[in-house]
Amino acid sequence: MHRRFTVPGAVAAASLLLAIPASAASFSPGAPGIGDPYYPYYGNGGYDVSHYDLRLTYQPATDELSGTATISARTTQDLSSFDLDFLLDVDEVRVNGVTARFTTSGEHELVVTPRQPLAEDTPVTVVVRYHGVPSTKSAYGFTTWHRTPDGAVAADEPESAWWWFPSNDHPGDKATFDVSVAVPDGTQAISNGTLVSTSSQLGWTRYNWRQNKPQATYLTTLALGRFDITTGTSEGGVPVINAYSKDLGDNDGAARASVERTGELVDWLSGYFGPYPFDSAGGYVPNTTTGYALETQTRVYYSPAQFANGSNTSVVVHELAHQWYGDSVSVKGWKDIWINEGFARYAQWLWSEHEGEGTTQQLADYVYASHPADDPFWTVKPGDPGVDHQFDAAVYDRGALAIQALRNEIGDTAFFRLLKGWPQQHAYGNASVADFVTYAEQVSGKPLAALFDTWLFQPVKPAAPAARAASFAASPAGVEQPRSWKKIEATNDVHGR
Ligand code: ARG
Ligand code: ZN
Repeated sequence: MHRRFTVPGAVAAASLLLAIPASAASFSPGAPGIGDPYYPYYGNGGYDVSHYDLRLTYQPATDELSGTATISARTTQDLSSFDLDFLLDVDEVRVNGVTARFTTSGEHELVVTPRQPLAEDTPVTVVVRYHGVPSTKSAYGFTTWHRTPDGAVAADEPESAWWWFPSNDHPGDKATFDVSVAVPDGTQAISNGTLVSTSSQLGWTRYNWRQNKPQATYLTTLALGRFDITTGTSEGGVPVINAYSKDLGDNDGAARASVERTGELVDWLSGYFGPYPFDSAGGYVPNTTTGYALETQTRVYYSPAQFANGSNTSVVVHELAHQWYGDSVSVKGWKDIWINEGFARYAQWLWSEHEGEGTTQQLADYVYASHPADDPFWTVKPGDPGVDHQFDAAVYDRGALAIQALRNEIGDTAFFRLLKGWPQQHAYGNASVADFVTYAEQVSGKPLAALFDTWLFQPVKPAAPAARAASFAASPAGVEQPRSWKKIEATNDVHGR
């Protein structure tokens, strides 16, 4: 039962209009947002998507993208209309085969009104035919569709979908994907999952990519350009597909020396996090001028800038760690970003220790000692950083420090059981910081609310843990910077779009 209008007056008024059945009063518009306080208009209410089928054509010379999105969903309320998040120009919308009215609203809402209202808990198929030049579209004054000299890339967090497919754009509604894109011969289309097939016809090549595990919309990526694609299989049996722009210039060697280690690093991370959750792994390096990397599911996005100072396995470890922490287990709301970034950063610390470039404890001590109590760093609460600090360095560094504090509290046996258990517990789903606290208490058998409150939720520098106080007293001049530090920080040092 889900009734928006239960006031007797509304029912009575509706019954007066004899043409409308009394129950029609319960059909209402789906909300324009999924209910995330950080981003009130991201995602939508009233339905849940299970699959996106995108069949597109892209012309790199003009940045023209056109095609059809077929969305399989289920209603979660009686709907008179519903929204999709989208910026391109819509030619036609069909709901369950029948043309529907549509209009735009707000910054990125496509409002669809089916001819017949949709009853709660029924399957619905939405077909959207569209076209447009994504690089000319913006919302809130920005675009995250990145043009390159030979094509374009869609990869950003928390939003990248609006520029290329209509969606329920929030990690709270994950779905499987078929992404099929035709590009002129000589151009490649890179996306998530497995390359099921390619076909060539009349000067165009179509790439058919499939992601058969639930995937958040922001983790769905598309790159169009001239790429060199490499394939292989990790020792542990994970198929690897990587792609490098043919236009990486001086960064080409270091990019390959880093990303070609994907299989090895997936296997290494499996030792901590359990079996790799997806059918394939890999990364791609387009010729973009952005600075960041992004954990796009199974096919990580790397900016060439990440390799400008030589090879960087640390960033590869970070993005691959997200495949468990962030991609398979996704945030419930964007305030839960710590369960992504804290753990991806901690994986870099584990890799640093493995490489002999600083132990996790040395890195934790360095973070602690290098930020004095009056540093604004400590005002950021990794457990709920606020929309303006979602990707603040504190979410990563203070976030990983919190994980080291947890490890010291519960001991290595419980800690590593927790690290491996969590991705199993919530595989392919969503979880919150609160869920993590509950699970950590379960696995360790210890009350941990106070510890998490101190390290994740207080806007002040925590007192040094007793066990560490002695070592801070012994080195009043500060703690030596671990050798891995600069590479680790380079993962998130470019925050611009
Ligand atoms: N999740 C990404 C990472 O830490 C961060 C992306 C930040 N977004 C941005 N546009 N800079 O790997
Ligand atoms: Zn990250």
